[in-house]
Amino acid sequence: MAERIEVEGVSYEYQTDQRRVLAVRDASFTVEPSEFLCVLGPSGCGKTTIMNMLAGFLEPTAGEIRIGGRKQDGRLIDRGVVFQDFAQLFPWRTARRNVEFGLEVRGVPRAERRDAAMRFLKLVRLESFAESFPHQLSGGMQQRVAIARALAYNPGVLLMDEPFAALDAMTREEMQRQLADVWQQTRKTVVYITHNVTEAVYLADKVLVMAAHPGSVRAEIRLELPRPRDPLSDAFVEAQREILSHLGPHSSELEPERTPSPFATTRRPTGPAPQTKPEGGIP
Ligand SMILES: Nc1ncnc2c1ncn2[C@@H]1O[C@H](COP(=O)(O)OP(=O)(O)OP(=O)(O)O)[C@@H](O)[C@H]1O
Ligand SMILES: [Mg+2]
Repeated sequence: MAERIEVEGVSYEYQTDQRRVLAVRDASFTVEPSEFLCVLGPSGCGKTTIMNMLAGFLEPTAGEIRIGGRKQDGRLIDRGVVFQDFAQLFPWRTARRNVEFGLEVRGVPRAERRDAAMRFLKLVRLESFAESFPHQLSGGMQQRVAIARALAYNPGVLLMDEPFAALDAMTREEMQRQLADVWQQTRKTVVYITHNVTEAVYLADKVLVMAAHPGSVRAEIRLELPRPRDPLSDAFVEAQREILSHLGPHSSELEPERTPSPFATTRRPTGPAPQTKPEGGIP
């Protein structure tokens, strides 16, 4: 089942011995059931912090997150998480037994969880590596096992933090294609963190562009290109331009001509946070 995610007026402040860091300021957005959201922004803009709050690993210092209408208070575990790090699998378990892990915790009977694990390994095209251990697999294969593990648990939402960032460009493209396929077959609600514009345009229904210091949502861009997407098409390139125009000074030379845009964009205020929160989430 795919769940709706609501993020309303969420901030997060880290407190260290020396100082406080406002990592996320007043972020509001929603992800509809089965929608694929990419969160895009420069290093340090608070993407991982948002991810950790969605997953329930960190509690917002202000605002609220709801998944499927229920408040994320750290006890809500109806989500699968895939991290950037290859070392997220249990090294002493085979690929199949890694995928089975969440089902074991839930007490699913052995034969049933074995079937489910094989089904999801097949989905990420790794059924012939089911009995291999993580150290016998490449980085990309390990990430696919991690995706299969997150999906096998059948979560309401799938959260992915730059899962392919450490892969070479060719493998990354192949992984993106596979992920787009898997998503079309499973229709999970996905939040996918990236700092790669092309990746966001390839995968997302909606892109949240973030700005740093403090991390805040700058724009929300809806992409309605047909799937599978063609990175060489005019519409794809235009979508990249549209996103770059919201990313700030680094992309100023790529600012598109002022022609009417085919993408529904909501510009976010970049000034100080408003005193009162707008009603109903996204202004
Ligand atoms: N544990 C922590 N203690 C203090 N400050 C932190 C901590 N983790 C992150 N920060 C700060 O919060 C801000 C946001 O960090 P975060 O990791 O969310 O960024 P990010 O957008 O994921 O960056 P990257 O693209 O590099 O992964 C940064 O300024 C960072 O220094
Ligand atoms: Mg990060």
